[in-house]
Order: sequence, then structure tokens, then C-alpha cells
Amino acid sequence: MGRFKHCSILDCRRIVFALIFIVMLGACGSKAEFKPQKPSKAEDQEEVYRKYNVERGKRLVELGGCSQCHTPKIKTTFGYKPDKDRFLSGYPSDEPLPELPYAEIIAGEAEKSFYTTDATVWVGRWGVGFATNLTPDPETGIGAWEEQDFIDIFRGNKHFADGDQVTSPMPVRAYSQLSYFELKSIFVYLQTIEPISNEVPKRIPPESDLFEGSDI
Ligand code: HEC
Repeated sequence: MGRFKHCSILDCRRIVFALIFIVMLGACGSKAEFKPQKPSKAEDQEEVYRKYNVERGKRLVELGGCSQCHTPKIKTTFGYKPDKDRFLSGYPSDEPLPELPYAEIIAGEAEKSFYTTDATVWVGRWGVGFATNLTPDPETGIGAWEEQDFIDIFRGNKHFADGDQVTSPMPVRAYSQLSYFELKSIFVYLQTIEPISNEVPKRIPPESDLFEGSDI
């Protein structure tokens, strides 16, 4: 009887120790839950890849001279310089259409073309082309674009808005030499720049009244 009693106390102790152990384990577990999650290896790699894309996109945008046409300029003592505060935001919507001899510019000569000092407006056989807003503003820029929309412009040489050709002076043919991954990098980078709200007008076709008198 005594032996049995002794045994049962031992069992009780064991049970108590086991319970304490379980509670401690539980405490450790819940503590781990509140620890900041360390990114998994896969997430780490994704972030590294994203940063690489942004860096490469930035270099390609500089090399491609996108800013020469897509950024409004400011006049400095050394001439016109791209305005950093309006980087890649396109033809400024608050500026009136420049006064130009539109009909004469394209009259009869398909090769003739003209650009404004700003280089955001280009007149030629395509009519009047306005450099678009490449910032990630969702309404007026490319913020709501899918990556593929962007790549298609350079691959299929198509105008995104109306399925028309990109007939502007933009050297799309040269840019189409870029690989899928390089174009993707440009898109990823452009999504990281400052979004600027600027609604760029649509291209004025050569059939417009603006060109009345020309042969086109
Ligand atoms: C020589 C001037 C020029 C350069 C350089 C230039 N663009 Fe453009 N881009 C334009 C003009 C003008 C338009 C408007 C085209 C139109 O309305 O037909 C345009 C349109 C676009 C569009 C919109 C097309 C659409 O269908 O809506 C994208 C995207 C674009 N450019 C990206 C770029 C990128 C990226 C670069 C640099 C790698 C670049 N551009 C360099 C002049 C230029």
C-alpha cells in the first residue's frame, strides 16, 4: 500500500514536471510568434532580384535618353536642362500648344520634322506627338499598366492607347533590340520614380485641321 502510495507521488511529480515542461514549450512557441519574421531565402532572393532590376532599369533609361524627350526642360545659363522635379512626366498639360507653322512643317515632305526646344512636342508626318507621362501616376502615367502592356509597345511597335502605330520620333526600332528582361527592368524602375499627375494630350493626327494646306 505504502509502496503504491510512494509510486503515485512520483507519478504525480512526473506529471507536474511534464506539465511545467509543456507550459514552457508553449511560452517559447508564443514568444517566437512575436519575433519579427526573418525573410526566407526565397524572399531574400526576390528582393535582391528586384533591386537589381531597378538598378539596371535606371541605367537603361539613362542610356536610352528617355528623359531627353519625356522630361520638360528648364532654361539655364548652359541651355535647356531636364527639370528634375518633373522627371519623365511628359509634355506639360498646362502649356498651350506651341505656335508653329504646322502645315508648312509637314507640307508635301514626309521626311520633314520639327521638335520644340523642350523636345516634348514633335511635329512630323505622324502629326503632333506629345511625349507621354512615364511616371507611376495611376491616372495619367503608367502606374496602372501591366508589365506586358509596356513590353508590347517595344515588341509590337504598337501604340497602347488605340492600337495605332507609334509613329513618333521615339526610336522604338532601336529600343526593340532590348531583351525581354531589359524592358522588364525599365518598367520595374519606372514604377519606383516619383509619380506626377500630368494628363498628356493624345497625338494630333496629320488629317487634323491644324495641318490644313499641307498635302497630307
Ligand atoms: C526622340 C524622343 C523620344 C525618346 C528619346 C523617347 N521617347 Fe518615348 N515617346 C516619344 C513621343 C513623342 C511619344 C508619343 C508617341 C505618339 O503619340 O505617337 C512617346 C511615347 C512613349 C510611350 C507611350 C506609347 C503609348 O503607346 O502610349 C512610352 C511607354 C515611351 N514613349 C517610353 C519611352 C522610353 C522607356 C524611352 C527610353 C528608353 C523613350 N520613350 C524615349 C518620344 C521619345
